[in-house]
Amino acid sequence: MRGYFGIGVEGISKEQNVGTIARSAHAFGASFFFAIAPAVDIEALRVSDTADSFDHVPYHQYDSVAAMQLPQECTLVGVELIEESVELPSFRHPTRAAYVLGPEMGSLSPEMVARCDHVVQIPMKFCVNVGVAGALVMYDRMISMGRFAERPVRPGGPLHKLEAPKHNIRRKVRTKRK
Ligand SMILES: C[S@@+](CC[C@H](N)C(=O)[O-])C[C@H]1O[C@@H](n2cnc3c(N)ncnc32)[C@H](O)[C@@H]1O
Repeated sequence: MRGYFGIGVEGISKEQNVGTIARSAHAFGASFFFAIAPAVDIEALRVSDTADSFDHVPYHQYDSVAAMQLPQECTLVGVELIEESVELPSFRHPTRAAYVLGPEMGSLSPEMVARCDHVVQIPMKFCVNVGVAGALVMYDRMISMGRFAERPVRPGGPLHKLEAPKHNIRRKVRTKRK
């Protein structure tokens, strides 16, 4: 898959949700995980993380939205169920992206929404758990940007296997020394 992505949380307050998102981020191949003003001690959680996700996905923590730093040319995508947000199935994921989710008992702060380049929503009747929302966004990125065999018209799996990409690698021709 081209590009990279990171995922983060603002004001998160439940250890279990941090663990779920960190684990999903690792499983979906995130390049970094970040938190802004967490209300839970994520540093302590790192030590007790049983899935070792923090050993494989770099973690960054910031005290405020203003202090948050992202890689150059990384597009910030807020994930929030608000009227003005773009429906995820109609959203083109940026090649280099950082997704940020809000706290369990609230929403992304106005400062964070203002800093986002885009805000997306998972179209549904009401908000789901923040960990579930994070996994759905990463899954949507994977299926829309990854290389998969086309879905068939009839129910079931694909009729043809996806061919491996052809790389234009020049083979070295060895010549016998005389
Ligand atoms: C459980 S929700 C917060 C509660 C919600 N503001 C409410 O009071 O109904 C926690 C976070 O999960 C994310 N979230 C949950 N459902 C979502 C959806 N359908 N679309 C986009 N984001 C969602 C957002 O980042 C949100 O801030």
